[in-house]
Amino acid sequence: MKFAKWLGLTALALTVGGTAHAETIKIGVVLPFSGANADLGHQVDKAFDLYVKLHAKDIAPNTVELVKRDEGPPTGAAAKTAATELITNDKVPILAGFVFSPSAIALAPVVTQAKVPMIIANAGTAWITNLSPYYVRTSFTLWHSSYALGEAAAKTLKAKTAVVAYSDYPPGKDSLDGFKTAFEANGGRVIDAIPAGGPGQVPDFTPFFQRAKDEKPDVVFVFVPAGDHATAVVKTYGALGMAAAGIKLIGPGDIVQDIKLQGMGDAAVGLITMHHYNADLDNPQNKKFVAAWKKDYGADSTPDFTSAGGYDGMAAIVHAVQATKGKMDGDEAVKSLLGWKFDSPQGPIMIDPETRDIVMNEYLSEVVKGPDGKLHEKQLAVVPSVKDQCKVLAFGPCAPKK
Ligand code: PHB
Repeated sequence: MKFAKWLGLTALALTVGGTAHAETIKIGVVLPFSGANADLGHQVDKAFDLYVKLHAKDIAPNTVELVKRDEGPPTGAAAKTAATELITNDKVPILAGFVFSPSAIALAPVVTQAKVPMIIANAGTAWITNLSPYYVRTSFTLWHSSYALGEAAAKTLKAKTAVVAYSDYPPGKDSLDGFKTAFEANGGRVIDAIPAGGPGQVPDFTPFFQRAKDEKPDVVFVFVPAGDHATAVVKTYGALGMAAAGIKLIGPGDIVQDIKLQGMGDAAVGLITMHHYNADLDNPQNKKFVAAWKKDYGADSTPDFTSAGGYDGMAAIVHAVQATKGKMDGDEAVKSLLGWKFDSPQGPIMIDPETRDIVMNEYLSEVVKGPDGKLHEKQLAVVPSVKDQCKVLAFGPCAPKK
């Protein structure tokens, strides 16, 4: 059933009325619907569908049709084939989705040549948006969170030493660079950086974390892709008794993804993260978003940061449809999103007109057990209007090409 749902054309009528001039805009959606990372794909997909459902009136008399394809494993190969077919066979004027950085990286020459805008709803390697003028990102970069956390680790948590463990692929390297740059600029020292497997399958984190524990840092900063990797990280941290040894686990919010949080158990209590979204955020837009989500997908379901990227991504597409009056010329659609602002469930967001990357708040949070016996994110501080510091600092591959 699930298979049929994503393989076929999922037509979501935004309006029933329609006029003779109404356009049906096909949106090519590429997300991991199969394999170990399918959870992530479904979280983004549900957010796309929810936004479309709630905002039908905004683009009437036009309608949209989501044409969904599997992103496959995080290598980029399947995503490139799927997106190429969507452009050439299905003639989609816009693409959206892309959980994994290798997928977005692989597609840059394709969308540039076809002049098809691509809304990146998750992939978080900072320099991705430099690869094509048709890329617009509504998710995050690992620099947004990791740089802000590097500063907070030194200034707020008063950490002097850190060990970094990271999934060894582009966003992991970004998280290391972002954290280390800010932490060391504020007096901290990264005493070891441990590549800890890749995104394709969950490694046994024990040897990496044992090495970190033996080095006795104040904090261990970890980036792994959300999903089962995150659960394994927190469980390993608990099993090795690292909290009792006085070592704090910190990281971007990927390690406490809302859909995984309750399954992490008490080992998660006390974790400190920096991120742009969690389902506990206390603002009116988020209250509405979480309520609408639970109404459609069940009381026990929850949106998470990947859903926030999807929801905002579909809001961006609806804006582009309105701005181009349904014509969806690639250049015009991208232009309409430069400087676009949106009152998102994560707080106010904007697309930076220079970089086409998102500007948003980052929230420093601690995992606590609530009176309901469930794990929650308690907000400790807000860093407002954060730009991707990799591009601000023109760090390494983020520097503009000469
Ligand atoms: C990525 O591949 O860019 C990625 C995937 C999952 C995450 C974060 C980044 O949680």
